[in-house]
Amino acid sequence: YSLKTYNTFGINAYAKNFIAITTTTELAKVIQQNTDKKLFILGGGSNMLLTQDVDALVIHINNKGIEVVQEDANSVHIKAMAGENWHEFVRHCIDNDYGGLENMSLIPGNVGTAPIQNIGAYGAEIKDTFVSCQAMNISTQEVVTFTKEECEFAYRESIFKNNLKGKYIITSVTFKLTKTNHNINTAYGDINKELLKNGITNPTIKDVSNAVIAIRQNKLPNPNELGNSGSFFKNPIVSKELFNMVYAQHPEMPHYIISDTEVKVPAGWLIEQSGFKGKRFGDAGVHKKQALVLVNYGTATGQEILALAKKIQTAVYKNFGIAITTEVNII
Ligand code: EPU
Repeated sequence: YSLKTYNTFGINAYAKNFIAITTTTELAKVIQQNTDKKLFILGGGSNMLLTQDVDALVIHINNKGIEVVQEDANSVHIKAMAGENWHEFVRHCIDNDYGGLENMSLIPGNVGTAPIQNIGAYGAEIKDTFVSCQAMNISTQEVVTFTKEECEFAYRESIFKNNLKGKYIITSVTFKLTKTNHNINTAYGDINKELLKNGITNPTIKDVSNAVIAIRQNKLPNPNELGNSGSFFKNPIVSKELFNMVYAQHPEMPHYIISDTEVKVPAGWLIEQSGFKGKRFGDAGVHKKQALVLVNYGTATGQEILALAKKIQTAVYKNFGIAITTEVNII
């Protein structure tokens, strides 16, 4: 069963078996009927690189539904099932004038996989509006609720990527969004510039969403046109000592102070400085407009993308002494 259309990198890897589920009950049943098989859980397929065929039963989480579960004059708790497309959910919230997700417009993937790596963009992260998620324990099929604290969110991290990796399947996520007094956040990057270009000085959440969409469309490749998984690497957080050493040589290096001891450096800059921006090796390449994004020009294999990633990691380490790690799940 080809997984080509189930991963945004467009890698043509094959699954031994494949089934899509549309309800939690169905999910429990499929797990119970296949205790003898290895299972592989697939959501939106937007944050993984398949480097080989999947010798397992692939379960595609495709349960749908969005509902307001609690509401007062100023806010709503809105619950979305895991199989909902992230961006469609964001637009649904904006259409209802529920604020809080607009800066995360157009991120590929599904609602259920968003908490796993605490997705974020343009000054917002899922943890800012997250209330809780429901998840099925794979060994018992029991569905339990995880509070925000229990998810142990950090930059592109959660408990589901760490201690509980492979143990739970997220089935729904609940967010707390604003109905009044939206917290309009245009401080990050080019959002203000984009708004002013259109003469907007007092933006609505829809204006912010549209600005983020325009910026992303200009910088990031559309997976439907050019296979990719967004940022392939995380932005490294380095010690102040290491930062100072590199900065002395490269005072133009962009950076964000994280704490008294740590500084975050954009991996895209390190990769561009290492000469990889826009480079192409066969069908594996580095995006022309954003060096943090690796792309599949058509028939690249996962192994070819991975080889390019390793080449980049080695070069960045050699040039700057900074190790960059992958954000994408390597399968
Ligand atoms: N930069 C370069 N060259 C490049 C790319 C970036 O010099 O090729 C420099 C930029 O000039 C800028 C800095 O690096 O000074 C940061 O660039 P940008 O604002 O484009 O963001 P990023 O740090 O590269 C992160 C997220 C993105 C998110 C953007 C916007 C990570 C790993 N990536 O990228 O998230 O959209 O910020 O908030 O944190 C994703 O996770 O898949 C993703 C796309």
